Amino acid sequence: MIDLINKAKTEHSLNKDELIELLSCQDGEQIFKAADEVRQKYVGAEVHLRALIEFSNICRCNCAYCGLRCKNRDIERYRMSAEQIVETALKAADFGYKTIVLQSGEDVFFTADYLAEIIREIKKNDVAVTLSIGERSFEEYKILKDAGADRFLLRIETTDRKLYEKYHPGADFENRIRCLEDLKQLGFETGTGCLVGLPGQTIESLADDILFFKELDADMVGIGPLIVHPHTPLNGQQNGSLDLALRVMALTRLLMPDINIPATTAMETLNPAGRILALQSGANVVMPNLTDDDARAKYEIYPNKAGVNYTELSEKLRSIGRTISHKKGYRGNTDCPLTLNPSPAGRGKHTNTARYLRKNMTPQELKFWNLVRNSQFENTKFKRQYPIGKYIVDFVAIQKMLVIELDGGGHNTPEQQKYDEERTKYLKSRGFKILRFWNNDIDNNIDGVFETISIALRERD
Ligand code: 5AD
Ligand code: SF4
Repeated sequence: MIDLINKAKTEHSLNKDELIELLSCQDGEQIFKAADEVRQKYVGAEVHLRALIEFSNICRCNCAYCGLRCKNRDIERYRMSAEQIVETALKAADFGYKTIVLQSGEDVFFTADYLAEIIREIKKNDVAVTLSIGERSFEEYKILKDAGADRFLLRIETTDRKLYEKYHPGADFENRIRCLEDLKQLGFETGTGCLVGLPGQTIESLADDILFFKELDADMVGIGPLIVHPHTPLNGQQNGSLDLALRVMALTRLLMPDINIPATTAMETLNPAGRILALQSGANVVMPNLTDDDARAKYEIYPNKAGVNYTELSEKLRSIGRTISHKKGYRGNTDCPLTLNPSPAGRGKHTNTARYLRKNMTPQELKFWNLVRNSQFENTKFKRQYPIGKYIVDFVAIQKMLVIELDGGGHNTPEQQKYDEERTKYLKSRGFKILRFWNNDIDNNIDGVFETISIALRERD
């Protein structure tokens, strides 16, 4: 077990069997400790606070576990006005919050155009805006991105398709994935996550969830234990386990060292020490609720939702050697989004560049691609011309954290060498191993190239 944890700590890669072993081992302490160290190394001691505004509890969905489900008649519904939302956001900005999270049920009253107006108004201040409003079309997401929204949260909830369909009547798993891919493509910092403790959920499927976060290259991952709501079909079932939720979270940190991970309210609700335990097991974000008391009481996803007391939190953080960040806290604890072009549409442009490069491959890239596409080499999935942070890498096996770069002669200039060094440093800081080959190797020694890749893949198994 210690070997596995050490491997995860240095290589940030585990396969499904290894994840299952760590999810089910006797004692999680070593995993929590390793995740805490990786958190410190990659994103530091700062804790980012995100001001949460729950602006509407009206929802068209019928998720079996959630108190806001449309079929729950024992709940008073509300919708804040645009003015109230902006006013609350400005209060939060005045207070020093650098991120405003706008969360709601899937409320179609708030069209993308209407939300765009609200976002534009909030973005007149120096804050990042995160949306958590559920499934929409690509076009709607684009309107929201163009209005200046920076991030989007959409949990996959579970990657077990059967379970997903069971607990989300009428919903389409494929559409959920489509949404997440659209959000990534549009350049949102994209958050996802899962519930832990759904009746019928297996350890295997939790391992799949973690691998899914990595495959998506999520920028944020929120994990929470299920808390049973009496006015839902799950009434009478058991709550999820905090220990297991912390393990899923800690393993996610080990595999995705530079992402943002919240200590979730559900963890604190299950155990008054839940938030601090999470912050000491890989988490680096807290989301205080700024919704006014009246509305907050009605945003009852589950009962007895814990709150955050700012003074208490800052004292507790100090006592464990952590500080409150005054930055926007993008992925990797940077103060600007990871783009080639720091305009709001930058990341979108970036992905367009990747698409352009995919269409214009060199003969060597094409030869290499034809030999690895469709997982034909050692059953490993490679992606080509793939954006990682502000760089576009030639090829990457995300599950193995292995980047392959093909170089022509142009890489010999001192400027290029400096750029390559910085790029290598950045990719290493994100936990990737980088293999570089000359075009000449691809032309004349392709067997040698694949032998080297094969060894690197085995090393990272
Ligand atoms: N217990 C814990 N988390 C819940 N959520 C919804 N209902 C519950 C519950 N009963 C979570 C979902 C959703 C997020 C906003 O709240 O994962 O994505
Ligand atoms: Fe609606 Fe979200 Fe609750 Fe599902 S989890 S019912 S989408 S608020």
